[in-house]
Amino acid sequence: MKELTKSKLKLITFFFIILWFSILLIIYLWILNDKKAETILRVKEIAETVFYKDIMYRKWASFHGGVYVPITKDTKPNEYLNIKDRDIKTIDDKEFTLINPAYMIRQVAEISKKEYNIITHITSLKYKNPKNAPDNWEKKSLEKMTSSLKEYSTIEKIDGREYVRYIQGLTIEESCLKCHNTEGYKVGDLKGGISVSILLDPFKEIDKKYLFSYTIKYIIILLIGIGIIIIGWYIIYLSLMELNKSKEKINFQNKKLEEINSIKDKFFSIIAHDLRNPFSQILNLSQLIIDDYDNLKDAEIKKFVMMINQSSIKTYELLENLLNWSRSQLNKISINKKLTKLGEILNKVIKTLEYIAKEKNININYDNMNDIQLYSDENILETVLRNLISNSLKFTNKGGEISITVKQTNDVVEIVICDNGVGIEKNKIPGLLDLSTHSTTYGTNNEKGSGLGLIICKEFIEKLNGKIHIESEKNMGTKIIISLKNN
Ligand code: HEC
Repeated sequence: MKELTKSKLKLITFFFIILWFSILLIIYLWILNDKKAETILRVKEIAETVFYKDIMYRKWASFHGGVYVPITKDTKPNEYLNIKDRDIKTIDDKEFTLINPAYMIRQVAEISKKEYNIITHITSLKYKNPKNAPDNWEKKSLEKMTSSLKEYSTIEKIDGREYVRYIQGLTIEESCLKCHNTEGYKVGDLKGGISVSILLDPFKEIDKKYLFSYTIKYIIILLIGIGIIIIGWYIIYLSLMELNKSKEKINFQNKKLEEINSIKDKFFSIIAHDLRNPFSQILNLSQLIIDDYDNLKDAEIKKFVMMINQSSIKTYELLENLLNWSRSQLNKISINKKLTKLGEILNKVIKTLEYIAKEKNININYDNMNDIQLYSDENILETVLRNLISNSLKFTNKGGEISITVKQTNDVVEIVICDNGVGIEKNKIPGLLDLSTHSTTYGTNNEKGSGLGLIICKEFIEKLNGKIHIESEKNMGTKIIISLKNN
């Protein structure tokens, strides 16, 4: 499986949000469009209803051959109606005129236009009355009509406002011929039509209200979806972090294991090589004394015993270092800080090393530091100093010199161990304090060491919250500076 990174996860999440948004938008626009079409259909149905209502009244009027109404200012006799008995008088001289169905429709149309915003119009391509003349749309619609298609509806603009326009044809029936007998129609012919136009604005207004609540619902659904996606992202993000953490942990543990393994290797190589030599020396020398005891002079025996003693000291030193180091590796060194006298510790260390110094005729100079008190761990400090001074002795030529100085400032004590020995090549200095790159060098008297000394010093000083620094150049002696915080 390809690795899922944080940025990839972000991208996928973003993609899902966009996808969700697009899906909703498409559905939204889709339903919006349906809604518009539905509104138009609804208005068209209203127009149709208006038309049939007109037809019913017309039929009623036509059925009676027209109706007589009193002649008034608004209702004058129809000049286009040329039949006898159009105008009649009652016995008491009241005047009545016959209203033909078309005339009735016109009068009703006036009311419906004024009061209901619905325009109805009776019209024909061949009209008697110019008031019935078709407008462009009616004309086109009537021209399209055949015996099978008698109905027509579109959205049109009238005076800049949108209307649903509807027209249905009227065919000649038997009853119509009473008055429409001069135009050559026969029953079934298309005579004309009634058009109904309804203003769309009020319906749009209703739609707008609907649209608002509809949009709010959509936004809520959108936000819920986005919320779920983000929660999903967060859950995956968390588990991803968890995974990374455990990966890091495993890497860390692997490194640690490698380290431990290399430490183990080092440990065994030290035991195998460094411990073997002094032991075999001790064994050989003591065997020599046992075998030749009677032939050996006292001075010779003393010399051998001294050599045995030297080897033993070195071996003991090495063993102690090994022990210290392994304890430090296992974090089993406990630090026990108390007020200690630096002078006392130094004296003790130098005493154990005096013998080797004498052997190589090396002079150890050191300040009187009796009054320097340090808040530190006595044992650790002793181990460090012993190792460092012993190292200096090892790498200083016969007749050389070692000086130990101490500087105390407010809260830092700096111990400097300086020798005029063989020195160390500059580029090798960093490797001295690192076990993995460390290699043993032989001392000026061909003394062999484990190389553990400096590493232990570094670890111990770091445990005391101090720092160790080595300054050296080949053949220019070595200066080791330890700085310890005095608190
Ligand atoms: C009582 C007489 C009368 C009867 C019945 C009658 N009409 Fe008319 N009709 C007229 C007159 C008069 C006009 C023209 C003047 C007007 O607009 O009033 C007219 C106009 C029309 C018009 C408008 C076009 C035009 O010529 O001006 C149509 C369409 C029409 N009639 C259809 C019919 C149909 C269909 C019937 C039968 C169902 C019918 N009429 C029955 C008298 C009549």
